[in-house]
Amino acid sequence: MQVKMSLMAAAAIAAVSGMAMAQDVQVVKIGSVAPMSGPQAHYGKDNENGVKMAVDDLNKQNIVIAGKKIKWEMASEDDAADPKQGTAAAQKLCDAKVNGVVGHLNSGSTIPASKVYNDCGIPHVTGAATNPDLTKPGYKTTFRIIANDNSLGAGLAYYAADALKLKKVAIIDDRTAYGQGVADIFEKTAKAKGMQVVDRQFTTDKSTDFMAILTAIKAKAPDGIFFGGMDAQGGPMLRQMEQLGMSNVKYFGGDGICTQKLPELAAGAKTTVNVVCADGGSSIQKMPGGLEWKKRYDATFPNQFQLYSPYTYDAAMLLADAMKRANSTDPKVYTPKLIESNYKGVTSVIQFEPNGELKNPTITLSVYKDGKKTPLN
Ligand code: ALA
Repeated sequence: MQVKMSLMAAAAIAAVSGMAMAQDVQVVKIGSVAPMSGPQAHYGKDNENGVKMAVDDLNKQNIVIAGKKIKWEMASEDDAADPKQGTAAAQKLCDAKVNGVVGHLNSGSTIPASKVYNDCGIPHVTGAATNPDLTKPGYKTTFRIIANDNSLGAGLAYYAADALKLKKVAIIDDRTAYGQGVADIFEKTAKAKGMQVVDRQFTTDKSTDFMAILTAIKAKAPDGIFFGGMDAQGGPMLRQMEQLGMSNVKYFGGDGICTQKLPELAAGAKTTVNVVCADGGSSIQKMPGGLEWKKRYDATFPNQFQLYSPYTYDAAMLLADAMKRANSTDPKVYTPKLIESNYKGVTSVIQFEPNGELKNPTITLSVYKDGKKTPLN
């Protein structure tokens, strides 16, 4: 009888201490949203990997906030690069009461999703969406940690005019918020620099046949084409330019085409050597700790690196940094700390303008040499 009693007492003590332990640990969920399906899934995987790596690193740091040990978790959602699925994914993360969100990838889904996050009071940090309109509504919950398309579109037009001395350019865009937006900025700057815009055509972010629009453009004999869109279109377009004999036409694009995968999607087309693309930060070689970080990334996620994972890694770390400074994981309490960030990330020292745009953004222009993305600056 006595033995039985003491066993019961031991069980009771274990249950109570178990409860106490459970109370001392708090789960903090970081949402990650990007296209995880469809033709842009390789970007999405890269973005998600960045968040996953941050969450793993945070868990190793034994972080305590407001007396509780934090267990960091990632809640990943697929928006398929689609505006409607983007708002649905955002609402799902709001309903799940995640503590913060990294995303989205595409401006077309990020812009409508930003309103959803604002309405539910959860901050989101994008390391990929570049349309300047994202920060125009002035939501206190929206943050961007890369340069926007004003820098990308204009930077490429300056390079085309000043460094390459091109006279005639044609423009194609995919009619998304990103593609059309960055193409408009390129067009405006190209004209201001005295270049002639000989044609403007458009396609979609699902198309793979560009023969008709390229044939129309070829007739206008441009020195270069600017494409506002993603690599799933850029790759096949380069191949079709080769097929049409447009082998001396320069090919410009923003971050959307500036991936490791572009040459593969172009199926080895020789026109890949004509590409000049711009992305909204330093090259990995010039990022503080970039190469060391990339080594760790490649060891964990071999052959998956594209472009944005260092930014999504930093975005997740930035959310954690603001929670630590606020000593709270409650979005309502820690969100005001985000705008005051002074965070030494992998990509840069992250500080914000009052509207949530990154302070002092840089851009990198790259070309492709032997099928490898190679920075020019
Ligand atoms: N920068 C691209 C966009 O904004 C990915 O959609």
